[in-house]
Amino acid sequence: MNRTQSSTWTRRLLTGAAALSMAIGPALAQTSAKAPSKAAVTHAKGAAAVDTARLLAADAEPGSWMAAGRTYSEQRYSPLTGINKANVGKLGLAWYADVDTERGQESTPVVVDGVLYFTTAWSKLYAYDAKSGQQLWAYDPKVDPSNGAVACCDVVNRGVAAWKGKIYLGALDGRLIALDAKTGKVDWSVQTTDPKQPYTITQVPRIVKGMVIIGNAGAEYTCRGYVSAYDAATGKLKWRFYTVPAQPGDPTNTPELKKALAGWDGDFWKYGGGATAWDTILYDPKTDLIYFGTGNGLSWSQSVRSPKGGDNLFVSSVIAVHANTGKYAWHFQEVPGDEWDYDVTNPLMTADLKIGGVQRHVLMQAPKTGFFYVWDAATGKLISADKFAPLNWASKIDLKTGRPVENPEVRYTVDKAAIVQPAPLGAHNWHPMAYSPKTGLVYIPVTESTTGFQSADPKTFAVKDRVYNTATVSFSDKITELYGKPGALPRGNIRSYLEAYDPVAQKIVWKAPDKDYGAHGAMVTASNLVFSGDWSGRFNAFDARTGEKVWSAPTQADVVAAPSTYVIDGEQYVALLVGARGLPPGQARTSASSANNSRLLVFKLNASATLPQNPIAGSVAGKVLDPPLLTGTNEQVIDGEGAYGRFCSGCHGAGGVADKSIPDLRYSQVLRRLDTWNQIVLDGARADKGMVSFKKVLADGQSEAIYHYIVSQANKAKAAQAAAK
Ligand code: HEC
Repeated sequence: MNRTQSSTWTRRLLTGAAALSMAIGPALAQTSAKAPSKAAVTHAKGAAAVDTARLLAADAEPGSWMAAGRTYSEQRYSPLTGINKANVGKLGLAWYADVDTERGQESTPVVVDGVLYFTTAWSKLYAYDAKSGQQLWAYDPKVDPSNGAVACCDVVNRGVAAWKGKIYLGALDGRLIALDAKTGKVDWSVQTTDPKQPYTITQVPRIVKGMVIIGNAGAEYTCRGYVSAYDAATGKLKWRFYTVPAQPGDPTNTPELKKALAGWDGDFWKYGGGATAWDTILYDPKTDLIYFGTGNGLSWSQSVRSPKGGDNLFVSSVIAVHANTGKYAWHFQEVPGDEWDYDVTNPLMTADLKIGGVQRHVLMQAPKTGFFYVWDAATGKLISADKFAPLNWASKIDLKTGRPVENPEVRYTVDKAAIVQPAPLGAHNWHPMAYSPKTGLVYIPVTESTTGFQSADPKTFAVKDRVYNTATVSFSDKITELYGKPGALPRGNIRSYLEAYDPVAQKIVWKAPDKDYGAHGAMVTASNLVFSGDWSGRFNAFDARTGEKVWSAPTQADVVAAPSTYVIDGEQYVALLVGARGLPPGQARTSASSANNSRLLVFKLNASATLPQNPIAGSVAGKVLDPPLLTGTNEQVIDGEGAYGRFCSGCHGAGGVADKSIPDLRYSQVLRRLDTWNQIVLDGARADKGMVSFKKVLADGQSEAIYHYIVSQANKAKAAQAAAK
């Protein structure tokens, strides 16, 4: 309802900027100049002797990569120049380590005091000697695989934090675990979520002033988002910030959440509300603020979430809180009343930019929506916002109100469909971007895509526990009709590339196109090299000024994670975790322990190790479509399509086409036996592998209906393959 009304909060924020900035506490960074240079200080191997002074002086020890984003600014910029354009051609594989999980691998290796730490799918954590590649210890938190059923977007983990001899891990099941950096033994472990609720953690814990800051995920699964701070030494809770209001009168409703209630309608709090802060958390020593971005509300469609509309604060917002107390400082809602899964949880970074001749300390983000934002880091005042990727959902951001000028066509109802660009995975998702103060450019992995939206029928749709609840459909006759209109945008994934973006001029400088569609994290060095993998099975280096590809090496795997770089005994290394859904086109499985060739790869100059070349039997690349004939009725296939879309597609892929390292059911041998199918789907025969029982959510006959739908999809795909030959 209030969609077009300007948020009074935003207005107050913009006009009250000066007052706010005065309220901000003493700037911690002022001490950074006095912090001792640690370049000369050597720590024992595996000491993980990271403290505030050392982190603030990170640029004095460029050979370490002490936090996932390297420094508090999270620019993922390395001052190292040992590997440069002149010698990058000699970069070769120094060592690699096989990984024993095979879903998405998203973590950035952290390297400190000679040891490299990384995590894999299922929140497993490893410590390696960063020079020799010898494994020092491994830790498996033994997450109950049933948690995989409420991990919307795979059982991934994005990495660890190091602090005063401990390594911190956020586990998928909501535990925050501190381990002894030398031994991998658990020092303390706390449950940060109610284990009965469908929360997960995939994000990197951040260390701020002796506290570990952690959020969670689960906005499609009846969760209420919050961010917590724990004492890094003891695991004691210090503060918690909720991102959406609870039921009116609830004691956790802070003054700002009470105000936010005015922008909500209905019983949204029964479903948690969502707005989970599942990825970015950034601390800025200069402002002493902690920033995080929040995700979508539950459900995506406002027809269920907040039927009369409204802004639904703090859904899809950047929030700044005071580091010591977790108290609200300011917020900026990027997508008021979001209905398109436009999370703004994407990486935030701080930088010092000269804008209009004035030096500004800014906060920047390239969120899913396709608009690049630059804010004053202290006040949240919007400096500029413009398109870094094609989009149709808004024409521009109104710089006065901070609100998007929405395209009226993109709101959808149960009767009205919409085509929206970008699709829910966004123009830029969690994949780390990088900023080089030398080139003044931000390097963003961009994906161009569209999707159709229509509301699920609120009369028949019911929010269910531990089930993906978007209250939308992405396949319908009305959506197909819209895509069929002359001049309509193409459906689905269009193209992807690494983009260099000028945040001051707000303009695209270059694009390095991908051969195969998919996003991949980036890192940039002072020698003007941008490193990023791809979905064609390559790890690439680009000239940071021009986008020219200057080096490339095989990864045998799709790459989504970002690399890091470090120095041991005077030699510079580049480390990258590889492995995502499936395998690159034409790539055979070569890893005995991981179907998608997940590995840690470590490169240095003049090294010549090679990856295994012999294909392993049962390689995914050789799979053929061989479904049984369709025996189901038309009604069963249609019922199966609906049930699949609601309950299965989140993991197994839209339309039955797998988009993650989760079986493509069309290829499954299980299609040959309906009884085996039902044992898996209804009786939970594979629950230990993350495929839980769906008995409680499926109506009678629906498992069979989905089976017939998949058989039908498989036969269609087989016919299409035959026609293409
Ligand atoms: C939370 C993620 C998730 C959801 C949701 C999900 N699955 Fe699965 N499913 C998996 C995983 C992971 C596996 C692989 C298990 C293994 O390694 O054996 C799997 C395997 C299967 C298999 C066995 C395939 C084979 O070839 O071995 C079938 C059949 C299956 N799922 C059907 C379904 C159906 C039907 C639905 C919806 C009612 C569904 N799944 C929903 C994660 C999921």
